[in-house]
Amino acid sequence: MHTLRLNDYPIHIGSGQWPQLRALVEALDPSRLLVLCDAHTRIYCLPRLQEELEVPEHQVVTIPAGERHKTLDSCRYIWERMMQLKLDRRALMLNLGGGVVGDMGGLCACLFKRGLPFVQLPTSLLAQVDASVGGKLAIDFASVKNSIGLFANPEAVFIFPGFLATLPERELRSGFAEVIKHALLGDPGHWAELKGLNSLSGLDWPALLVRSLRVKQRIVEEDPREAGPRKLLNFGHTVGHALESAFLLSESPLTHGEAVAIGLVCECYLSHLKVGLSLEVVQEVAGLVRSLYPHRNISNHLLPQLLELMQNDKKNEGGEIRFSLLQAPGQGRYDLPCDRDEIADSLGFYNSHSLSLFS
Ligand code: GLY
Repeated sequence: MHTLRLNDYPIHIGSGQWPQLRALVEALDPSRLLVLCDAHTRIYCLPRLQEELEVPEHQVVTIPAGERHKTLDSCRYIWERMMQLKLDRRALMLNLGGGVVGDMGGLCACLFKRGLPFVQLPTSLLAQVDASVGGKLAIDFASVKNSIGLFANPEAVFIFPGFLATLPERELRSGFAEVIKHALLGDPGHWAELKGLNSLSGLDWPALLVRSLRVKQRIVEEDPREAGPRKLLNFGHTVGHALESAFLLSESPLTHGEAVAIGLVCECYLSHLKVGLSLEVVQEVAGLVRSLYPHRNISNHLLPQLLELMQNDKKNEGGEIRFSLLQAPGQGRYDLPCDRDEIADSLGFYNSHSLSLFS
């Protein structure tokens, strides 16, 4: 069991944290208790929560699973249910799910009657290691990811690594891209341990989560509203988000983490070109991504669409496409413009270095 603090709220990590959750609910003494879950967590995670919470009186609201439901329509549904349930500002909302449930549930809690307290109970690796921590709450709007949202902190985050066992392997790998990102940005020792992995089985998840979250905690604590250093956390995501959007309507969409993993390879290559990241590290990152993720050929005809998508990234200024890059493991830099040829070269590097000898 481990507790990290971020600004004014605790992040509890470990399977033995149920008494702390019960104590928090008791201390807040809410007028009503609402659990928000999605169609998956209602089946795979809610029974455990209900068993451990020992609170007979609670309401459950369920939304469909998946990023395409992170919308204003889903918020409207949640708020309608909250109205029907006559919740007041002393009610407490528990968000039991992945990034969609946490981001949208937090947003709905903050805006309902000007705000009621909420607790994040992330169940996916992506949410445990990234989305539930740092106070970013948002929905997608007008086809732009996370374009309507705010910064607000929960009462607490409870990370139960046991929930990871409910995830399909592909989802686990998706979240792992953020673990790789954190290690590269802020924990060279962890990167040295991760770079030789060829499978995610048998990992010590509680220890890995604590180590990875420490990097995010440090960065967010320094810059909670992303005025500067928090931009480092976008490493891998400028290319990654563009790929995720470009493949969204294809026959085989990429998960967020699969797109970010390709983005990490491309942005390591850009880091080599722009800030001198050693080719050895670039090759190591490409090697790890090759052994954990399926290869996707990024064909040249996608390039104009990808560049257009990167151009619309909210981090840009003055028409430039700006990146967060890596000088060396543990040394990130942000606000670095790269031109179209450099970006095209980085995609070419991924294409030629991501095929394993056997694929
Ligand atoms: N996921 C990036 C951040 O929280 O800033």
